[in-house]
Amino acid sequence: MSKFRFPFQRATASKPSVVAPSQAPGADFAPLPSNLTAERVLHVQHYTDRLFRFSITRPTSFRFRAGEFVMIGLRTDGRPLLRAYSIASPPWDDALEFYSIIAPNGPLTCRLKHIKVGDEVLMAHKPTGTLVLDALTPAKRLFLFSTGTGFAPFASLLREPETYVKFDKVIVTHTCREESELRYSEDTVNALPDDPLVGEAAPLRVTRYATCTQDTCRRAGRITDLVSSGAMFDDLAIAPLDRTHDRAMICGSLPFIHDMQLVLTNAGFVEGSNASPADFVVEKAFVG
Ligand code: A2P
Repeated sequence: MSKFRFPFQRATASKPSVVAPSQAPGADFAPLPSNLTAERVLHVQHYTDRLFRFSITRPTSFRFRAGEFVMIGLRTDGRPLLRAYSIASPPWDDALEFYSIIAPNGPLTCRLKHIKVGDEVLMAHKPTGTLVLDALTPAKRLFLFSTGTGFAPFASLLREPETYVKFDKVIVTHTCREESELRYSEDTVNALPDDPLVGEAAPLRVTRYATCTQDTCRRAGRITDLVSSGAMFDDLAIAPLDRTHDRAMICGSLPFIHDMQLVLTNAGFVEGSNASPADFVVEKAFVG
């Protein structure tokens, strides 16, 4: 169902542990460890000089749940260099999408920022993560709180039909330093009406609340403050957080996660996990 197709052959989990040499110019020809597969870049879009999204081919055997992450990376000096990335595309899509920051001196992202269509990207076979619907007990509203690239797993969950089976309303928040950094979440939410699977349900059920903190934009402020003061609920004309009806997911920087966790625990929310579903779950966004 992806718009993007690419004619390169895929390496999948069912193939031998040593994959075929890359066709990409400049790639080295060392065999890959058996836990990795070599995929191809299908699409790259740069949003700012620090942020870009890209999609890669998906092995037919690769399964994941919306909200999970996987190790991806590049061959550097003959060795795989990998980092955890949340999968931003939904589980039904043919391609896998990722949203990346370019970290200053980040060993992987300084290389990854140069990828172009047809290049090789390495990926582990096994996804994992806590930002999954299974880790939350049933309720009416789902709050997805993100900063920076922490929006990525929510881009997947917003396009997952199960989200709308489990929740009546989804409120997704995205806070960045500058307004230009909010565009990925804006594009994602604006595209929901055209989505082949959630195009009917999502536009009626999803509310996006975007704020920035170091720039003049329509809504200013940290989401922790806007939730604690009640300003967000006034702005959206919705009921305040209530553990009886609400569940939440948090994804972003460590300081943000810590402070947002406090906001939720102070409101009586209990942290859950895959093994023990409860009121909210957290995950650190990839940064390096
Ligand atoms: P601020 O500009 O006030 O630090 P970063 O790029 O550093 O990860 O930050 C992304 C966004 O997350 C910024 O808008 C930043 O606000 C916000 N942020 C950073 N730390 C926290 C925190 N502890 N609580 C709430 N928001 C935070």
